Amino acid sequence: KLTVDTSTAVATVSPTLYGLMTEEINYSYDGGLYAEMVQNRSFKRSWQGYESWTVIARGTAQAKIERGATGPSSALPKSMMLKIDPSAGPYEAGIANSGYWGMAVRPSSTYSGSFYAMATGVGSARARLISDVTGATLAEAMIPLSDGDWQKHTYTMKTSASVKPGKENHLEITFEHPGTVCLQLVSLMPPTFHDRPNGNRPDLMEMMAAMKPHFLRLPGGNYLEGDTIRERFNWKETIGPLVDRPTHRGPWNYQSSDGMGLLEFLEWCEDLKIEPVLAVYAGYSLHGESVVGKELEPFIQDALDEIEYVTGDASTKWGAVRVQDGHPVPFPLHYIEIGNEDTFDKSGSYEERFARFSKSIRSKYPQYKLIATTPVKESVPDVVDDHYYLTPDGFFEILHKYDTMDRKGPKIFVGEWATRTGTPTPDFGAALGDAAWMTSMERNSDLIVMASYAPLFTNVNPGGMQWSTDLIGYDALRAYGSPSYYAQVLFGSHLGDHTVKSDASGVNARFSWSATVSTEDRVLHLKLVNASDAAQPLVLDLRGAKSGSAALYSLHAATRWATNSIEHPDAIKPIVSKVSVTPGNWNRAVAANTIEVIDIPLQ
Ligand code: AHR
Repeated sequence: KLTVDTSTAVATVSPTLYGLMTEEINYSYDGGLYAEMVQNRSFKRSWQGYESWTVIARGTAQAKIERGATGPSSALPKSMMLKIDPSAGPYEAGIANSGYWGMAVRPSSTYSGSFYAMATGVGSARARLISDVTGATLAEAMIPLSDGDWQKHTYTMKTSASVKPGKENHLEITFEHPGTVCLQLVSLMPPTFHDRPNGNRPDLMEMMAAMKPHFLRLPGGNYLEGDTIRERFNWKETIGPLVDRPTHRGPWNYQSSDGMGLLEFLEWCEDLKIEPVLAVYAGYSLHGESVVGKELEPFIQDALDEIEYVTGDASTKWGAVRVQDGHPVPFPLHYIEIGNEDTFDKSGSYEERFARFSKSIRSKYPQYKLIATTPVKESVPDVVDDHYYLTPDGFFEILHKYDTMDRKGPKIFVGEWATRTGTPTPDFGAALGDAAWMTSMERNSDLIVMASYAPLFTNVNPGGMQWSTDLIGYDALRAYGSPSYYAQVLFGSHLGDHTVKSDASGVNARFSWSATVSTEDRVLHLKLVNASDAAQPLVLDLRGAKSGSAALYSLHAATRWATNSIEHPDAIKPIVSKVSVTPGNWNRAVAANTIEVIDIPLQ
């Protein structure tokens, strides 16, 4: 039996409960959300040479690439030099980029290209998007180059209406004459969400919007800290023109283009109408370096400058830099997180680091709530960030952890959590664990003010993923939601503003529920999760509910191993139907392996 008394409010539901978190992991930005199509646009060299680039030397052409000794800026001081020797017969010479496991090309679409070049004798450049399958040219543009020092070139090329959407394509840039050309920052952008220059993939933005998130925790995760101090997310090197961003190696073993810099993170928030939860680097990096004492001061100053960049107006030093970067209006901000997972700092320096960061931030910005990444004893954070990566059973074991926790201490931010079964994206068993955990977080959301699943994204190509169980998978062309993604969509879009009294008896150990009410809409959101292999019969006593029709959203799979994939994106999706509610004594069974959300009108 499950009894819900809709007239007895128990606790306020945090309006910001559900949000987003990811970082540069699994090609989440480069090769993911950030729409850039060219991989390794800044020509970082590995032992294999310039990864993702090849030389084109067709016909009688003689062409080779070498390291260019100069670059267009102090941030990009080197380049790739292409030497094309004079040739007797007809030839074609240039460079080709294979993208992030292909390049998505769609019909009637305009692609915006750009590059920096220092040319001697090569004449015009010809840029083309070419099918790997047929060799057909899908779009092209001619770009006149003049000899001389570094110059930026821009162009657009458009596909015809008859081009079929596909990802087996690459970019070629060839040159008219023999000569030498040094190239840097070779970029190609497709249409982006809201047509933002240097913007994001529309499909992934739309999928996030459907989750009805309230915040984005940025920029990480481990990505904030870096393996070493030098490899931290040094926000000052991620703003301004792309040519002034040196790029950096992230902790997930690949170079970040930093096209997704601090301002782009904030604009991502703006486009989704959500707020940033700003994590500031706090003097600890993953390989164990930690900074204390006087040495911490520049890092504290960096954090203060960063807050000013986000929130300051044009009269402030860093607010003015943001205005100059193209965003005159300050961004809203309520929460600042100091570090990430500092429980791993075995030196024990977080007490000091949190104390010093919080003192400085609070004295300049008393209005913001400060988040500690692990409990601290000598200072009082407003919020503590708890992380959970568990199996479904693991989540069932902690379903009641927060029910009895002290409400007088700091609030809780579950800044990273996920049920970890399935790869590359979670399976249905994970979605059941997630849904059960979300019922627990909703029940406790007077204490848990925010929660964000992590990681959010993975590129599903072999080589694209460093961490399995990511909410959304994609390749260059397509994207799909895991069953866990759809569980989040359902929970996020039926949140309610307060919990009401509810009680169950005689239910199986893998059954959980949440009962919240939306006061204005007069609706009870009843969430029922049956993570067992047998149907759960229920007698529902729903006090205050209207009899009659209610909307039922059901997410179900035949087995816990069932899942969605890039080839079968729609295997498991919510099904919407109507049910007839008989409030006092409603007999209904929740099928095995099923998540249900029922929106029941109130009297
Ligand atoms: O989400 C993946 C990683 O898990 C994050 O970078 C880190 O904070 C956590 O350990």
